[in-house]
Amino acid sequence: MTIGKCVNSLMVVLLALIPVQSQGEIIPVETRSNALVLEVNNQKDVTVAYLGKKLSDPSEYAQIARQYRQAGDYTGLYQSAYTPAGSRNLLEPAIAVTHADGNTSLDLRCVSHTIKAVDDNVSLLTIQLKDPVYPFEVTLFYKSYAKEDVIEQWSEIRHQETGNVTLHQFASANLNLKADAFWLTHFHGDWAKEMQPEETRLTHGIKTLDTKLGTRTNLFQPSVFMLSLDQPASEDHGTVLFGGLAWSGNFRIDLEMDPQDNLRILAGMNHYASDYSLPANQTFSTPPFWFVVSHHGQGEASRKLHAWARDYKLLDGNGQRLTLLNNWEATYFNFDEKKLFELFKDTRKLGVDLFLLDDGWFANKYPRNNDKAGLGDWQPNRKKLPNGVASLVKEATTNGVKFGIWVEPEMVNPKSELYETHPDWVIRQPNRPEHYFRNQLVLDLSNPEVQDFVFNVVNRLFGENPDLAYIKFDCNAVIYNAYSAHLNKQSHLYIEYVRGLYHVLKRLRDEYPVVPMMLCSGGGGRVDYAALQYFTEFWPSDNTDPLERIFMQWEYAYFYPAISMSCHVTNWGRQSIKFKTDVAMQGKLGFDIVISELGDKDLAFCQDAVKNYNDLKDVIWHGDQYRLVDPKHHAMAAAMTVNDTKTRAVMFNYLVNTRYDQKSRTPITLKGLDPAKKYTVKEINLYPGTRSRITSSQPYSGDFLMTVGLNPQLDSSRQSVVLVVTAL
Ligand code: DGJ
Repeated sequence: MTIGKCVNSLMVVLLALIPVQSQGEIIPVETRSNALVLEVNNQKDVTVAYLGKKLSDPSEYAQIARQYRQAGDYTGLYQSAYTPAGSRNLLEPAIAVTHADGNTSLDLRCVSHTIKAVDDNVSLLTIQLKDPVYPFEVTLFYKSYAKEDVIEQWSEIRHQETGNVTLHQFASANLNLKADAFWLTHFHGDWAKEMQPEETRLTHGIKTLDTKLGTRTNLFQPSVFMLSLDQPASEDHGTVLFGGLAWSGNFRIDLEMDPQDNLRILAGMNHYASDYSLPANQTFSTPPFWFVVSHHGQGEASRKLHAWARDYKLLDGNGQRLTLLNNWEATYFNFDEKKLFELFKDTRKLGVDLFLLDDGWFANKYPRNNDKAGLGDWQPNRKKLPNGVASLVKEATTNGVKFGIWVEPEMVNPKSELYETHPDWVIRQPNRPEHYFRNQLVLDLSNPEVQDFVFNVVNRLFGENPDLAYIKFDCNAVIYNAYSAHLNKQSHLYIEYVRGLYHVLKRLRDEYPVVPMMLCSGGGGRVDYAALQYFTEFWPSDNTDPLERIFMQWEYAYFYPAISMSCHVTNWGRQSIKFKTDVAMQGKLGFDIVISELGDKDLAFCQDAVKNYNDLKDVIWHGDQYRLVDPKHHAMAAAMTVNDTKTRAVMFNYLVNTRYDQKSRTPITLKGLDPAKKYTVKEINLYPGTRSRITSSQPYSGDFLMTVGLNPQLDSSRQSVVLVVTAL
């Protein structure tokens, strides 16, 4: 561990309108390819001096600043690593407070820093900042993952004032980037329309990505974004930064092009309606903002991020998953024990691992026969399931399949016994009419009693059914009329809600560390790298039309690895069962169709596809993903995944535009193979009675496949083609 001392004595420093060229201390945070260089100047301000390619001689980082002759900085803070409000600052602050005495000024000077090696790959830089006037301090954390070129940043805030300090703004990260131009790709959406990309060149001023929904917070916009420097990035070229906040509540990311034409990024929990009253000697922690930088385009950035996610974030990221048959679209709320017993047989017949029972299995006084009633009453419905869940688990096991179940324990229908018994557990304004999202309200997870209740919904299911093998954890409503009967300070609700949620999820994981759980929020309303620490997979969208999924999965896959993405074959879309299954095989495969209604050929196709998937799942789940043809710009989509020894790959090809004579006219160049190896290419997932146009006996060098390429022979009669590339 190295320890540096940034200041000899704390003193009030006079404002300097034009700061002196600093001769400060350089603190580089290096990863394998990059460096984030912090500088402590002679006034003990900590600034971001550089974020870019790593230099071979670290002593040269000190020379970077003087190569820039940009407009003057009137504050010395434009490049602050954590911009305090109320003193010299003129731009968007990272932190704004009202001290215990009512004063609103803040200044933060460096006191010390430490660098600690966590292991061979990970190190943690800690920088201690203090206000020279008030007993108020901030610790900045920079956790770097060398191999993956990922850095996580967050802050902790504390004080020893006589009384509470109100935190108005409390960013996790405050970065500064230099480039000729900045291109931002961000995403918008709604139910069934998740991850719609938009790219824009940033101009001076602030572009904000944020959410104020409280729960299901990604519904309109997730926090993940891509930033390309100098020019719009492409798959394999250009410098690009991917970032996002590991936080399942309200977030806010400000991208501010400053008067010097540099880009400031401020990322953290949204401070909207969230003034936080912090008592002395308590620590306020902010969630990590993660980012990865690549100088070889979006493809490399995403592969680095996937590796990081699998190794450090996603629960059991390098492990196994269960294929499944879900009954949501097959039955909706209309099922009983007898029908489910038949579905277990279908699960077995299809060849998947697990049957997942969805919504509608619970509540008696107000039975859950539609989405208007019963939510909150987690007793099995006696009419549908006279023998309870235990009988289902037993019967599934008898049929040789595992059993999983859906819950949405943080929500309540007003038509429920829970609502009648515990109106004080519900988030709602006491003096205003209720407003519903999907006929339901959100329970107040800031209340420890509610946390216990939510924990016990799942804990009891496991207690009564030790063989329960899977949980789908849903969250379908946003927070309206934000008010907690439990909290004294209403402005704490948005933050304490999420902390309460994580508290419950941690308790569940402490009890049940390995059971697979799907993170669902009426689709992709809640996926982020904080939540995924507790979940093995997420539900990207209720929209399972395979054409839509090609586009959506494409965008999600920049940020999340295939093993984390649940993709089901359903009745959405008019494409063939083959097209639907091929698309779902790109992630974690599941089915949500009535198997007994499939024709013989469709059934045989699905059974064969499940076998193929089992054979390839190691490559799909744990391999490196390469995007080959972008459906946004072409009539086709093509992507492939390669295993780490480059001996096996699977390539998915789709025709996404079926206008007259659309086809794959030219070869598609593959990526990620070994040029020196010889490979064969075999088409799989052939619909019964059809023949492949790809000659599987022809060997190709990796060089040929990656230079000339291969034509998957897509046309209107072959709209999806799955190819397995195997080294000889
Ligand atoms: C929303 C989810 O996204 C669906 O998959 C399904 O589980 C329903 N909720 C059930 O109400």
